[in-house]
Amino acid sequence: MALKNIDRSNMRRVILDFPKQFKIGLNSAKNVFLKPGVLTRWPENIIVCGMGGSGLPGDILATLKPLDILSYKDYRLPPQAGNESLIICISYSGNTEETLSSFQEAVKRGLPLLSITAGGKLEKLSKKYGVSYVKLPGPLIPSRLALGEMFSALAQLLVNHNILSREISDEIIKLGFTLKSPESEERGKKLAEKIFQKIPFIYAPRRFREIAWIWKNSLNETAKILAVANYFPELNHNETVGFWRMNERQLSNKKIYVVILRDPEDSHPRILKQMKITRDIVEKEGVEAEIIDMEGKTMLEKIFSAALLGFWTAYWLALEYKVDPTSTKTIEEFKRRLAGR
Ligand code: F6R
Repeated sequence: MALKNIDRSNMRRVILDFPKQFKIGLNSAKNVFLKPGVLTRWPENIIVCGMGGSGLPGDILATLKPLDILSYKDYRLPPQAGNESLIICISYSGNTEETLSSFQEAVKRGLPLLSITAGGKLEKLSKKYGVSYVKLPGPLIPSRLALGEMFSALAQLLVNHNILSREISDEIIKLGFTLKSPESEERGKKLAEKIFQKIPFIYAPRRFREIAWIWKNSLNETAKILAVANYFPELNHNETVGFWRMNERQLSNKKIYVVILRDPEDSHPRILKQMKITRDIVEKEGVEAEIIDMEGKTMLEKIFSAALLGFWTAYWLALEYKVDPTSTKTIEEFKRRLAGR
């Protein structure tokens, strides 16, 4: 079957263009500020609300910075939210119920609030209540792939309010040149061939656990398969026992593929040792496993090059399974039924 008959919305082009998103996100947020006097001092915490793909920018920010950042994925607001918090609501479509609930609660309580969206109700409500917001430009792409735009808009908002230094915007701009999407596609395609017809288990060091989560989300939504994400060292104290061959009554170990995302420089030396031991242990149980080194010099490069590889792997798996990589019917049906339609 021709590629365009499976990839009907041309997701391949969206992933190839992924590095261009960083500039777009930064520019969209450049002139967005809280109203003067809304936040009088350094925020006690920053609460980033967003679900699914729109929750990933908050996860990455929390991975990256030692600020008190909470990535919140639920209705209303967490108990930590107060007058000295900064709340940032992100919904790419602008129509996600849980995020709108967080937004409404922040408005009701008069908390310092900003939003990021490409339109929908979040844009309408931001206008209605005079909340400053970042409007991401079209054409619309799947939320999970708008990560570059949403993350850089989020970072730029924090730069605007002197919470992050300007250096981060420069670092983000560089990602547009350092990330090499076509090379990453080749690697993702090869990995997809190995994972085909297996359940991927994606493991990363705790510091990068959100990257394992990005892989899992992409594998679920783009390839339409089940996937597991976990992190070192915790997984060695429970999950690995599940590979014990005795459990083959549940699922053949031949049906599992373990991907270990490794940061060769930054991880604790004992974590590097743990990764090798884990690979050996699971291989002994008949599970295929592979260690993949995260590429890049900076933390940001490592995060986004690994995310990009996850996008490509999921994309090529979707093609192997002959399913449209863009469609997420189940999520749409869920949202429709939740809205009573
Ligand atoms: C779809 C996707 C989903 C959505 C989630 C929330 O591509 O990634 O995980 O991100 O359902 O919707 P938005 O992002 O529009 O708030």
